[in-house]
Amino acid sequence: MAGGSGSILFEPAKAGLRGTVIVPADKSISHRAAMIAAISDRPVRIKNFLQAADTLSTLHALQVCGVESREETGAGSIAASEQPDGVMVIEGMGLRGFHRPKGMLDAGNSGTTMRLLPGILCGQDHHSYKLDGDLSLRLRPMDRIVNPLRSMGVDIKASQGRFAPLVVNAGKVHGIDYEMPVASAQVKSALLLAGLFSESPVRVTEPSVCRDHTERMLAAAGADIEKKGLTTIIKPASRLQLDDLTIPGDLSSAAFFIVAACVIPGSEIILPDVGINPTRTGLIDILKEMGADIIIENAYEAGGEPVADLRVRSSALRGVKAGADISGRAIDELPLLALAGAFAEGDTVVSGAAELKVKESDRIAGLVENMSLIGVDIKATPDGFIVHGGNGVEGGISRFKSFGDHRLAMLGAIAGLASRSGVVVQGFESVSVSYPLFAVDLRLLAGGLQ
Ligand code: S3P
Repeated sequence: MAGGSGSILFEPAKAGLRGTVIVPADKSISHRAAMIAAISDRPVRIKNFLQAADTLSTLHALQVCGVESREETGAGSIAASEQPDGVMVIEGMGLRGFHRPKGMLDAGNSGTTMRLLPGILCGQDHHSYKLDGDLSLRLRPMDRIVNPLRSMGVDIKASQGRFAPLVVNAGKVHGIDYEMPVASAQVKSALLLAGLFSESPVRVTEPSVCRDHTERMLAAAGADIEKKGLTTIIKPASRLQLDDLTIPGDLSSAAFFIVAACVIPGSEIILPDVGINPTRTGLIDILKEMGADIIIENAYEAGGEPVADLRVRSSALRGVKAGADISGRAIDELPLLALAGAFAEGDTVVSGAAELKVKESDRIAGLVENMSLIGVDIKATPDGFIVHGGNGVEGGISRFKSFGDHRLAMLGAIAGLASRSGVVVQGFESVSVSYPLFAVDLRLLAGGLQ
């Protein structure tokens, strides 16, 4: 690796990826742990809390509302072997204990912070909260939470009715029976959290399966929550008690190494303690259908979430069709199929994934522009993309632009390792959103990488 001012050259791997890497903690679960701990009755100790820009935005936003958090390092009362990276302690304030905010709540780049917090803020007696974010977040649709929350009686305002900044004036909340037009775990979570403060039950129906971490954690904290197929029903709560918990590794971060190991010949890697919640494992299912050699070992449960070690070896791949039925279970990983598809025999077709256009960047446009530049035969469709595979990745002098999007930056990096001539990733620093040490871990697996 070489480069400067946010541009890094990722050279072709000299050999297969080998070794073991512990990926960072799950981002989605870390956000939820901080928020649900904040409205619990007592302090909650969260082991392996993700220390990255997005989850720190959640902690800072909570601090503005008077929720204290502190890092416990060293052995203390915890065996050092159990938690080398320390523990985040969140001082639970009880359901309605947030203070008048000391200022604006800055969600930074984090959609999860911006979309979930209003579900809690609306129940905090009579305070008024303003939430804002960076330029990317200000362009992302917030009407998807604003409209249903308004139907629940929440006084919430958005710029032009649909963008950040948002203002939430806490007050009375009533129930709703809501069919989500898009499969969004963030929308589902905002409504379920608001349901805790509601005068009557909240029912949310998702059009297809999306991640269920909020439901699992609320159930663990004692909420009255029930799942019937694609519908979740939550009843008002009087208190929550979240036990101390350990966050598993993030499958969405592991995904970059998984795909890299699949396509770089001679690879064999182990990724211990990764979350394998079935609402998140769409990529593994799709890759296995493509012929990938992925083995799930030593499965166990932690904090209500299934966890396991993943062993991945390189293998020949064939093209695949991934549609709307699976895209919600793989939404953040779908761009990686452009790289897997480039190495597969035949066409890889991703559809039913128009949501990719409203992520941290327009991931269909950014993906197609970047992958075309590095020699992949790819074209955009209205709700996905098609890759004509078999020729791998050339790479070369063109720059792979992150567009400020952490997942595009990491994709560019592994595309470089898998390429014939290397790839320069521009704006690589955006990885700090979810995986600040990504390049270090990639170097570890690539061994000979400079
Ligand atoms: C997330 C849900 C997904 C995902 C995002 C994190 C979450 O978004 O893309 O990165 O933590 O709930 P949607 O809610 O739009 O599905």
